[in-house]
Amino acid sequence: MSLNTHRWWRDAVIYQVYVRSFLDSTGDGIGDLAGVRAGLPYLKKLGVDGIWLSPFYPSPQHDHGYDVADYCGVDPLFGDLAGFDLLMTDARRLGVKVLLDIVPNHCSHEHPWFREALSAPPGGAARSRFHFADGRGPDGSEPPNNWHAMFGGPAWSRVTEADGSSGQWYLHMFTPEQPDLNWRSTEVAAYFDQVLRFWLDRGVDGFRIDVAAGLFKHPGLPDSPDPEADARTRDSVNPLAWNQPEVHQVWRHWRTLCEEYTSHDGRDRLLVGEVSVPTAREHAKYVRPDELHQAFFFDLLSAPWNADAFRKVISEAMQDIAGTGSTVTWVLNNHDQVRTVTRYGDCGTEGGGLGTARARAAALLMLSLPGAAYIYQGEELGLPEVVDLPDDVLTDPIFRRTGSRARIRDGCRVPLPWSGHASPFGFTPGAESAKPWLPQPAYFAEYATERALADTQSFWHLYRNGLQLRQGLPQLGEGTLRWLETPPGVLAFVRGDGLVCAVNFTTAPTPSPVSGAPILSSGPCTADVLPGSTAAWWISDRTHP
Ligand code: NOJ
Repeated sequence: MSLNTHRWWRDAVIYQVYVRSFLDSTGDGIGDLAGVRAGLPYLKKLGVDGIWLSPFYPSPQHDHGYDVADYCGVDPLFGDLAGFDLLMTDARRLGVKVLLDIVPNHCSHEHPWFREALSAPPGGAARSRFHFADGRGPDGSEPPNNWHAMFGGPAWSRVTEADGSSGQWYLHMFTPEQPDLNWRSTEVAAYFDQVLRFWLDRGVDGFRIDVAAGLFKHPGLPDSPDPEADARTRDSVNPLAWNQPEVHQVWRHWRTLCEEYTSHDGRDRLLVGEVSVPTAREHAKYVRPDELHQAFFFDLLSAPWNADAFRKVISEAMQDIAGTGSTVTWVLNNHDQVRTVTRYGDCGTEGGGLGTARARAAALLMLSLPGAAYIYQGEELGLPEVVDLPDDVLTDPIFRRTGSRARIRDGCRVPLPWSGHASPFGFTPGAESAKPWLPQPAYFAEYATERALADTQSFWHLYRNGLQLRQGLPQLGEGTLRWLETPPGVLAFVRGDGLVCAVNFTTAPTPSPVSGAPILSSGPCTADVLPGSTAAWWISDRTHP
């Protein structure tokens, strides 16, 4: 087991590439691996340490690749293995680490194992890799328990047996096209070892683990004590379906496997878990020294724009996670959430507005916190959520499975604008008639990377400057945080021996905690005053009060 101190991943900044929306090299309107490869110099210039690629494996795309039919391939939509290898070569040359998204909780209904299970008899070995069970009621027509799926509806679907009769049910905590794997089957664990090795042998630097508090279910699959609460939230609240103690053994094993590779070539691999659990203390268990290197701490993302709420989640994380010696992994955006610019308020259509000012301030705050950080593509451009996509273009299964009530995840997945004044904004090559898989609004022109790079006041330059300072200043990255006294609605803290970060959550100006000009600010700042909805960094050996 390696010590957890002073490793690159402890304060790494990783950029999440949602492959289908990053850059399209073929003109089919869907981003691909060659597009990611072409974008690497852009990401290098931004200054991130690595990228996390959303799933690009063969998949029927019922949940945009989180329904994997073959864990060791590339879907033709996104390229092929040779193209993946080229991407790895370029990433290595540029010094950009590459993390893949691994989906161990469930696979696709088109995975050969599930097809085999469907044609096998009840009780057969092929079914034991999943959770098959008889239904309740005299004719077995009711699901085996009362669990709800995360994306709406029951967590069970009934199969038709080979003889045409209504048969057993299988468990799927997401959509019916994503059957949950049974991690109590030793075959499942052995299979994922092979999958990890397949990609580690191709040179990847680690994995983002989907639903890392999932995998195991309570033995016997009893009823949930509060099924209505499970149904009301997208968080993993059913205590019988999530966060079972056995899962930690898997992460210990995967950590050992990564360290085996490190022992051969000295390169530290990184496992980052998507961990949704009720408390920071519970979260800390996933990043014990022999488990995952990182786990996304989503409480910052869920906090409303409010100084007390932010202070509470930061303090809890510092005490309950960093306090145990591990690192906190901060995140404000991802492909499942409404973008910060929109979440924090009105964005305006041209980059002005309160939401934008707040999102800029939040970015500076995140980059100043001790630990690691993840940036979701487009966050560096200050992209707003596209809130007015017509129903007929929405592809998120949550929309369909909630009877068209929840329009949650398409608006943050609209393909990136790169250049020009009209869609496809350089996202797809060639003609302006090429159609991105989700329509880009006209106002995306204001956010194109070309424009952002040319404007030193842009969101992009804020991220780049913040990342550059992070690399150069020893106070940033890992280390301590000490809160300063501040007026209500303002947060300020000192990092290391004198980097001060302050955030004004109110809309009125407030005295800055340090005299003189900041080294970086999220908006225009005059000496000694921190305007409303603004964050800034100062280097100081003296702080007010
Ligand atoms: C979490 C992923 O971030 C999300 O996009 C996906 O739909 C679910 N896990 C199910 O795999």
